[in-house]
Amino acid sequence: MSDIVNRQWRLVARPAGMVQASDFEYREEPVPAVAEGDYLVRTLYVSVDPAQRGWMNEDPGYMPPIPLGEVMRGGTISEVVESRHPDYTVGDIVSGFLGWQEYALGSTGVLEAQTIVPEHPLPRYLGVLGGTGLTAYVGMLDVGQITEGQTVLVSGAAGATGSVAAQIAKIKGCRVIGIAGGAEKCAWLRDDLGLDAAIDYKGEPVSERLSALCPDGVDVYFDNVGGATLESAIAHMASGGRIACCGMIAGYNAAVPEPGPNNLFLLIARRITMTGFLVMDFAPRFGDARRDLSAWLDSGQLQAREDVQEGFENIPATFLRLFSGRNLGKQVLKVSDPTGTSG
Ligand SMILES: NC(=O)c1ccc[n+]([C@@H]2O[C@H](COP(=O)([O-])OP(=O)(O)OC[C@H]3O[C@@H](n4cnc5c(N)ncnc54)[C@H](OP(=O)(O)O)[C@@H]3O)[C@@H](O)[C@H]2O)c1
Repeated sequence: MSDIVNRQWRLVARPAGMVQASDFEYREEPVPAVAEGDYLVRTLYVSVDPAQRGWMNEDPGYMPPIPLGEVMRGGTISEVVESRHPDYTVGDIVSGFLGWQEYALGSTGVLEAQTIVPEHPLPRYLGVLGGTGLTAYVGMLDVGQITEGQTVLVSGAAGATGSVAAQIAKIKGCRVIGIAGGAEKCAWLRDDLGLDAAIDYKGEPVSERLSALCPDGVDVYFDNVGGATLESAIAHMASGGRIACCGMIAGYNAAVPEPGPNNLFLLIARRITMTGFLVMDFAPRFGDARRDLSAWLDSGQLQAREDVQEGFENIPATFLRLFSGRNLGKQVLKVSDPTGTSG
């Protein structure tokens, strides 16, 4: 491996406000040597996720901040190319958290790599069958606790998590309304995913549309965005409704925290429950989730959509797509094919 370079993107600045491509620096390093008990992987796909924006901040969140100068942390699908570890064989495909680099030692992963026996296209293991699919499943079923016939609202509905969450609610017999940015995304939600209605928050007044679409109120709101959309959703919650707080992307790039919703008293008046959750706390449910998500994919009840960009050099630009809403479905970046294949 000594004549091959390890291409990397390292975090070199903490963004004050909107993340910039210049917050990352391209480096080339030698490919690390493999010690006894370790293994070397080559990156095939990189996951880009809004949560990474939070890990760039100095303040600790639910994960420690990425130290300046370190390889950018992130989810990956990789191929084992050298192994001195009893559990990994050359050619194994593994999902892990090995960051924005082309080669990595298994021992450097934040989370232990999981071996995948691919039955679906590899990007799907970062989307519906990966973290965002699991998040949608536990968020909608365990936190939202939806039941048949309820009115369910999902924001960020054309994204990785939201599109799966909305479809799960449809599968469970709910009336589902999605909120997304732009007419094209809304048409996809209605025409392809079969949602009952979609609201284009960039082109339509969200609160007025909710009044018209939900005269009896929203029973469960799956929130991916926070901000003004959350305030509108609270105003339209039914009595006893539940809000599953999954993400608040509208505020991730704010230089100073934005004011919160001005109508929180409605939580009291209407006995609304608002619960934040982290997917990692639901690990005992992942087996059920993977089983059900796979079955729904196989039966055609659940559609998976990945937005695959290409080229290691394009990782920072692909990450930025999330914050301008350019992605439809799960945003991933392909670095290369597994050895001996072209797809
Ligand atoms: N709690 C957990 O364990 C957990 C796990 C995974 C993800 N999450 C959260 O779930 C949310 C979705 O993540 P994802 O990975 O599925 O990403 P995603 O929805 O596929 O991509 C992000 C989407 O957010 C929307 N967006 C960007 N800026 C926005 C803004 N200022 N206001 C409103 N919408 C905005 C864009 O869609 P539009 O075109 O519609 O604006 C964009 O496509 C994020 O908040 C993330 O942090 C939480």
